[in-house]
Amino acid sequence: MSAAFTARSALLEVQHISHHYKLPRQRLFGPPPQTQVLDDICFSVLPGQSLGIVGESGSGKSTLARIIMALERPSSGRVRLLGRDLNAMEPHQLQLARADFQMVFQDPYSSLDPRQRIERIVTEPLHALGHRDRATLREKAEKMLQRVGLHSRDLDKYPHEFSGGQRQRIAIARALMTHPRLIVADEPVSALDVTIQAQVLDLMLELKTTYGISFLLISHDMAAIHHLCEDMLVMHQGKVVEKGSPSKLFHEPTHPYTQALVCALPQLGQGRRRLRLQQQAKRSQASPLPPPVTTTNDA
Ligand SMILES: Nc1ncnc2c1ncn2[C@@H]1O[C@H](COP(=O)(O)OP(=O)(O)OP(=O)(O)O)[C@@H](O)[C@H]1O
Ligand SMILES: [Mg+2]
Repeated sequence: MSAAFTARSALLEVQHISHHYKLPRQRLFGPPPQTQVLDDICFSVLPGQSLGIVGESGSGKSTLARIIMALERPSSGRVRLLGRDLNAMEPHQLQLARADFQMVFQDPYSSLDPRQRIERIVTEPLHALGHRDRATLREKAEKMLQRVGLHSRDLDKYPHEFSGGQRQRIAIARALMTHPRLIVADEPVSALDVTIQAQVLDLMLELKTTYGISFLLISHDMAAIHHLCEDMLVMHQGKVVEKGSPSKLFHEPTHPYTQALVCALPQLGQGRRRLRLQQQAKRSQASPLPPPVTTTNDA
C-alpha cells in the first residue's frame, strides 16, 4: 500500500479515461479509422463504499472494467488504486498490486477453466503471487469455499459438477483469496436464475459489510445496484451522463436511459409516476428501451 494512502483517500480513482479502438482500414492511405468507446470518464470510490454502473449495451462498461483491472491500457487518462498509478507500474509491480483488486466475470460457465479442479481454480491468485505450499493453499481454499457457502470437499470437483450460482460462488471465493480491497464485478448475476441472483447479491453485501470490501458492480439491474451500492453512475455512448445515489436516480432520473430503466422496474413503475416518466422518455427521444431487467428486491 502506498505510504501516501490514508483511510480518507479514495480507494479507486478513475481520472479522465478515454479509449478508442482502431477499426479495419478501408482505404490504402490515411490514418486507420477509430471508434471512441470511452470519453473522459471520471469518478472515485471511497474505501468500503461500492459503486454501481449501469448503461445500455455497448456503452463501454466492460471496456472500462478491463481498463480498471489493468487488463487493457486506456488511450488516455489514469487509474489509481490506493493512490498508485496502475498504468505506470512495471509488470511485476502490477502482479503484486493485483492482490488488492480482483474481478468476477459475467459468465460463470466460461470464467472457470473446465480442465482444472476447484482447488487449483480457487488458489490461482495465490499461485500468481508465488505461494507454493500445497497444504497451506488447500487449507485457505477450504476456508474460503465454506465462507461462500460451499463445502470443503468441493475442492476436488470440476466446474461442470456445479450449478451456475455455485460456480459464481467459486468465482467469488477465487476473488477473495488475496483479501482484496476492491472487487470489480461485471454483470455477476445476469446469467443466473432470479432467486440465485438474490443469494449471490446477499453474499456480496455480507462480504462488503463484514470485511469492508468495495464493489464496482456493473449491471443492467438498478435493483441489484440499490441493494449493494451507495453511489451509481449511468453510462451512455462512452460517457457518464448521470451520477448520484441509487435512491436519487430511482426517484429523479434525468437522462432518458435512466428514466427507461426506472420504468422497467415493476415495483416502481406503477401509476402516474410511471406514465410521467414514460412520457418524458418519449419526449426526449430516448434511446431504445434497455433489455428486460430482472429485479431482486423481492428476495
Ligand atoms: N477489442 C475491441 N475492438 C474493437 N471494438 C471493441 C473491442 N471491445 C469492445 N469494443 C466495442 O466497444 C464498445 C463497448 O463495448 P463494451 O463491451 O465495453 O460494452 P458494454 O457496455 O459492456 O456492453 P454490454 O452491456 O453488452 O456488455 C462496443 O461498441 C464494442 O463493439
Ligand atoms: Mg459488458
